[in-house]
Amino acid sequence: MDLMVSDEIKAGLGTEVLGRVIISYAQTSSTNDIAIDLAANGMQEGTLVVAEEQTSGRGRRERRWISPVGTSILASLILRPPIAAHEAHVVTLISAAAVAQAIRSVTQLPALIKWPNDVIVNDRKVSGVLTEMRTEAGRVSFLVVGIGVTVNIPRDRFPAEITEVATSLSAELGRDVSRIALLQEILRQLEHRYVKLKEREDDTLIAEWKNLSATIGRQVSISLPRRIVRGHAIDIDEAGALLIRVNTGQVQRITADETISLRADL
Ligand code: BTN
Repeated sequence: MDLMVSDEIKAGLGTEVLGRVIISYAQTSSTNDIAIDLAANGMQEGTLVVAEEQTSGRGRRERRWISPVGTSILASLILRPPIAAHEAHVVTLISAAAVAQAIRSVTQLPALIKWPNDVIVNDRKVSGVLTEMRTEAGRVSFLVVGIGVTVNIPRDRFPAEITEVATSLSAELGRDVSRIALLQEILRQLEHRYVKLKEREDDTLIAEWKNLSATIGRQVSISLPRRIVRGHAIDIDEAGALLIRVNTGQVQRITADETISLRADL
């Protein structure tokens, strides 16, 4: 098993900012919690927190994120982008794109993004991104990007209730994948996009995101708190909301707080 220790992640990494400081834990509560504490105390941009195991891993919408020890990438990055709070969703979009592209480069698996920030392979989830931020006077003061990737978990170790919706890279590939090589590539891909974000190349970034999107151009069904919207996903707008053309021809705008299923029959 490859161990997610700082020196190994740094060897040959080649980034300027992301991962220059790496703090690694055998076990921690949640790498996002640690990174948020560090950032609140002034820790520098690019600091990466990784763990082999989390006791309180968190997903979006207050879900738990559980991964068997030593099988996954559990990583959180501190970023300090010079952007307004309402633009922060772009960081989530580029993070999902970085993960999808890195999976493609390292494994050749056909990874795609399921809006807003899941990465899927063969229609099953392999990664999720949880972005949390602190703001001051409408600006981002810091942002923590938490990335979970299910890397080396045999298919028979997935609980039966999630085998339809979740998978691992090793299960799809038929062999184990180096977590270090994949994490390094995620950091390189994300840094490349982060530089573009700072240069305000938002249009390029969103175009790149759309190229990797499994959602745009597909029939989708979206579970909202009180109803399900079915229709054709036509685009995302500048605020990162998904635009759905429903049967009446009307376009509905869905913000990232809501969940989506790519299977039209759900
Ligand atoms: C989701 O799909 O809902 C997002 C999952 C994010 C999980 C990662 S694992 C590393 C980091 N620490 C956490 O507690 N959560 C994120």
